[in-house]
Amino acid sequence: MTYNFDEIIDRHHTDAVKTDRCKALFGTDDVIPLWVADMDFRTPDFVLDAIRKRLEHPILGYTVLPHNFNSALINWIKKRHNWQLQPEWVGFVPGIVPGLSFAVQSLTKTNDHILVQPPVYFPFFHVTERNHRVLNYNELKEENGKFIINFDDFEQKITPETTMFILCNPHNPGGRVWKREELLRIAEICEKHDIIVVSDEIHADMVLPGNTKHTPFASISDWAKEHTVTFMAPSKVFNIPGLISSSYIIANAGLRHKFVNFLEASEMNNGNLFSYIATLACYEKGEDWITQMLNYVQGNVEYVVNFLKNNLPQINPMIPEASFLIWLDGKEFGMNTEDLHNFFVHEAGLGLNKGSVFGPGGENHLRMNVACPRKILEQAMNQLNDAVYKKQTASSK
Ligand SMILES: Cc1ncc(COP(=O)(O)O)c(C=O)c1O
Repeated sequence: MTYNFDEIIDRHHTDAVKTDRCKALFGTDDVIPLWVADMDFRTPDFVLDAIRKRLEHPILGYTVLPHNFNSALINWIKKRHNWQLQPEWVGFVPGIVPGLSFAVQSLTKTNDHILVQPPVYFPFFHVTERNHRVLNYNELKEENGKFIINFDDFEQKITPETTMFILCNPHNPGGRVWKREELLRIAEICEKHDIIVVSDEIHADMVLPGNTKHTPFASISDWAKEHTVTFMAPSKVFNIPGLISSSYIIANAGLRHKFVNFLEASEMNNGNLFSYIATLACYEKGEDWITQMLNYVQGNVEYVVNFLKNNLPQINPMIPEASFLIWLDGKEFGMNTEDLHNFFVHEAGLGLNKGSVFGPGGENHLRMNVACPRKILEQAMNQLNDAVYKKQTASSK
């Protein structure tokens, strides 16, 4: 079956964050929203059909986790990431960001230090600071148009109080698929300093065609297996984040018990019945959809990268290896972070994420979501081009 990613679907007035929070975030509704990380593609029909079928029954009562939920996840991870999980390692969490927060609360103490690698997905900062832990920053370096890890700095930033490292694997916003050798070096340093690794692998299934495959951090060595909390979810890749469905994977029994005790004590170990149904449908029927979606997204990435190269070379895109997000460097545009963002919103009519929210290294950057029909992207790029032309002609007068 061929899926249609060109279909334009109006999401206004569905309470979609992407469309219906523009006014609050950008001060105007008059933007093409290319920000929050969900897709403007139709959620696949095999998911919608599974939910519709359940709606034929008129009672939406309390529901247990389906007996085949964890086995569907285990089969999926074995097939796609060549990692064999044991059934007792896995369980449900109501969202990855909540999962990160539970890991912080259950596996570290107040005032412990937690290492992160900015620019990075900003809730990593929230789950640390709002739980009264302290952030250590190992800022990523850019080399040949990609983020790389400064390992000397990684080790230097570890303090005697550092007990956890939160890894974004693959990385948001840079789209890096970390290589096995990079992960092994991380493991070596974390082992030396006795640090627990929390690996957020929500983008694991979003590796774009032609790139190295995703490597789950916990799969690289025995040490990593015993010292890692991994989170995965079908939410990004199948466009069901509104259903809130994710899983933890923790091989080590001691770590797992602490985490699960916290989850149960907080009464946060259950999902809703639609999240279960949708997740099962994704893991049982989703392979072909993912392949087609990733090809389409790759086409969108190439379109934006070529457009910028040919028309607006003062904006430099970091080409993602995974995800539908492009990290744009606006330094050569000659504007500070605020002005750059305002220019995109108010002159070009484009709503992107401001780079500075991703922490140190995010200044003068923007994050652009390209998971939308190509026509929308073409319109966005033309609006940007026109706005830059206007700005240039105004300043040359
Ligand atoms: C790295 C990363 N982790 C987690 C999330 C969100 O996870 P959830 O919606 O399951 O809390 C996102 C969404 O953009 C993300 O990019």
